[in-house]
Amino acid sequence: MGEWVFVCATSQLLPGEMTTAWDGDTAIAVFNYDGEIYALEDRCSHEDFELSAGTFDPATASIECVLHGARFDVRDGRALCAPAYEPVAKFPVKINDTGIWTRDDRE
Ligand code: FES
Repeated sequence: MGEWVFVCATSQLLPGEMTTAWDGDTAIAVFNYDGEIYALEDRCSHEDFELSAGTFDPATASIECVLHGARFDVRDGRALCAPAYEPVAKFPVKINDTGIWTRDDRE
């Protein structure tokens, strides 16, 4: 299992904002939805495009893939509309004095 990777200070990811981090070869998109932090693999389940190139909509807690318009719930990674049907991987988040951490926990 991978080590935790530092994302940013909590003050650098405000409600409605998104950022990215890497755990080895895994790109991770990190979201602040209404004060709660969520992390998903930064890869659309449709054709593997980077999700973070798309738009995070804080009003609906969703991210829209810029390539073909699939949307995913940032809270659990489930696909909300075609052309994606599979979820994207959700990763754990840890917050401490230094900031926000996540990791790819699939191995
Ligand atoms: S690659 Fe994301 S919707 Fe097609």
